[in-house]
Amino acid sequence: MTLLRLDAGEASLVVSAHSGAPARILHLGARLPAGIDLAPLEALRAEGRRESQPDDPRPLSILPTTGFGFLGAPGLVVAGAAGASPLDLLAISAAQADDRIGLVLADDSIRVRIEVSVVGAIFRWETGVENTGAEPLALLQIASLCAPAPDFAHEIWTYAGRWGNEHRLSVDPLPHGQFLKEGRGGRTGFESAAYLALAEAGASEDRGRVCAVALDWSGDARLLVEQRMDGVRQMQIGLRLDAGEVGLAPGEAFAAPAAFLAYTARGRNGVRAAFHPFARARAAQKGPRKVHFNTWEAAYFDVSAERLPPLIAAAAELGVERFVLDDGWFKGRRDDRTSLGDWTPDPERFPDGLAPVAAACAAHGLDFGLWVEPEMASPDSDLMRAHPDWALGAKEGARPTQRGQLVLDFSRAEVRAYIFAALDALLAGAPIAYLKWDHNRDLFPAYGAGPSARAQTLGVYAVIDQLRARFPGVEIETCASGGGRADYGMLGRTQRVWASDDVDALERARIQRDLSLFVPPSVIGAHVGASPDHTTGRRLSMTTRARTALFFHMGVEADPTRLSEEERAELAQAIAFYKSRRALFHEGEFAVLESAAGVIGWRVVAADGQAALAFAVRLDHAAEAVSEPVKIAGLDPQANYRVRLLDPWPPRGGRRIAQAADWTEGLVLAGALIAEVGIPVPLIHPGETWLLEIERV
Ligand code: GLA
Repeated sequence: MTLLRLDAGEASLVVSAHSGAPARILHLGARLPAGIDLAPLEALRAEGRRESQPDDPRPLSILPTTGFGFLGAPGLVVAGAAGASPLDLLAISAAQADDRIGLVLADDSIRVRIEVSVVGAIFRWETGVENTGAEPLALLQIASLCAPAPDFAHEIWTYAGRWGNEHRLSVDPLPHGQFLKEGRGGRTGFESAAYLALAEAGASEDRGRVCAVALDWSGDARLLVEQRMDGVRQMQIGLRLDAGEVGLAPGEAFAAPAAFLAYTARGRNGVRAAFHPFARARAAQKGPRKVHFNTWEAAYFDVSAERLPPLIAAAAELGVERFVLDDGWFKGRRDDRTSLGDWTPDPERFPDGLAPVAAACAAHGLDFGLWVEPEMASPDSDLMRAHPDWALGAKEGARPTQRGQLVLDFSRAEVRAYIFAALDALLAGAPIAYLKWDHNRDLFPAYGAGPSARAQTLGVYAVIDQLRARFPGVEIETCASGGGRADYGMLGRTQRVWASDDVDALERARIQRDLSLFVPPSVIGAHVGASPDHTTGRRLSMTTRARTALFFHMGVEADPTRLSEEERAELAQAIAFYKSRRALFHEGEFAVLESAAGVIGWRVVAADGQAALAFAVRLDHAAEAVSEPVKIAGLDPQANYRVRLLDPWPPRGGRRIAQAADWTEGLVLAGALIAEVGIPVPLIHPGETWLLEIERV
């Protein structure tokens, strides 16, 4: 008998792996005291006999399969020439170390290895399968992680979304039957199936038990939550495969993408606390998060050697540190219908190439960054004229477009080599510090030499990895029409996520809050847009626009030459403030405030407890005449802190705060009062914000 145990953060995992029996998860939840006897878990999890059941029942195993009486959804499906094979995976060995456990399970012709390791507060799950038989097999499905749905789970949290409205945390009840979500666009997409959480009913920002999972994959993903009346309650996450996509010749092995799991009893902020340090380490950012200016909303396709220098100068005056030239710079590109694939500077617009633009940036002390969309080709491009067969498509002629473009078949070595060479030439030809790597269409049909959505993702990873090895100093941003590829696969290869093309501050507050469940603020690009906003048409003050970007990776999208003088001054001030607090914003512990409906707020507390900042914005007119006090945990309860409401105050704030002088000079409060009684913040109008600074005295 073997019981394996791992602890990570607030969680413990206990697995039973008896030789010759299915391996099972006996506990995945609250951390158990060290050294307690775990053997009784077997008895606690044993199920009695019931009516109408196989005589040798198969419980939910760590990788469930069908054919021997388990009637829930399988996590592994393979097929031989005679069709899908029944599988009975039984444990043949188990290994335990301090920070990892390893299991080997086998059937007649299949061997499965599952390794779970601990990285900080995260369990990292790796599942691999090998064909040990004599016949070739087709791999039809493999979950990266299968686990019992915790007893407390009543809610399923996943992301819903569309263009300009991504990462909308959506809550569904546990079903009778199945809750299934599958990606089919070849990128994680606006409705990403690469994230899943199961939560206690009513779990909130600070309260409730949650089990949260992210998948290390940027292509089609599949997640499943199942509840059956025979007692099976499970969750699964993994990639989604098309039939024929993965074959396993005798002796061949396949490794599923890793999955990452955290358990917390501290609500969504507990999930953030577990995932943020892990994600920051994965993203391997290169130094403080520089303030960006991106040309998209300022210029769209209208960029040229003459047009850019005034923008560069105006951006520099604001305090911007990196200038990113978005779409429109390459050969023949005047709108979104042509030229993708021809990655050389447009000879009319940039007769001397991009080096002079980079030099103009350098002269103002700015880095230079560039937008590319390497996986795409326009039908009207030199590339497609030369290599019409390089695009994905089902058959001759059947190559439907989206945004007027085709997808290059990255499963082909010559295609990858061409794109690598093009990017290599760009990066070698001008001092480019940064790439915004875009992906503006779904893959349909994802068919090259064969079904290739998965090969496409692997091909993209290969090119990015090759580029990173060649240019280790270059940072990359993942963008897919906004936040369509904001997953842990890309987080392992890029340093920034473009959360959405919608930069309306009120929309962005919602998007940033929800995406921050898994992705830390230092990785999430947040830009100050124009007013009226280009997506929603809403008008908002510069205070609100700038403050909403502050805690994140700040940037500017609005054309600085078209801002009023007051707006420019205020934005420059906000940028200076961001720079002076950058370490706190990005290295402190970020948490979303538990707020009344209609308010979105967050705070960050320095790791050493010396300082904190808190922010909120109101979306609608308050139902009640007072605001809830803001309670901030994580400060030293005994120490005194000066609490100031930073300028500019919300216009209504002055009237609501009894002794205004206290708040400008700063009220001195013990950490315990801040945590337990809370700071009385002013009631604000829709679209207004407040910003609190808390410093140890
Ligand atoms: C996509 C991106 C935008 C911008 C445009 C350029 O839509 O999401 O941010 O880069 O492409 O065409």
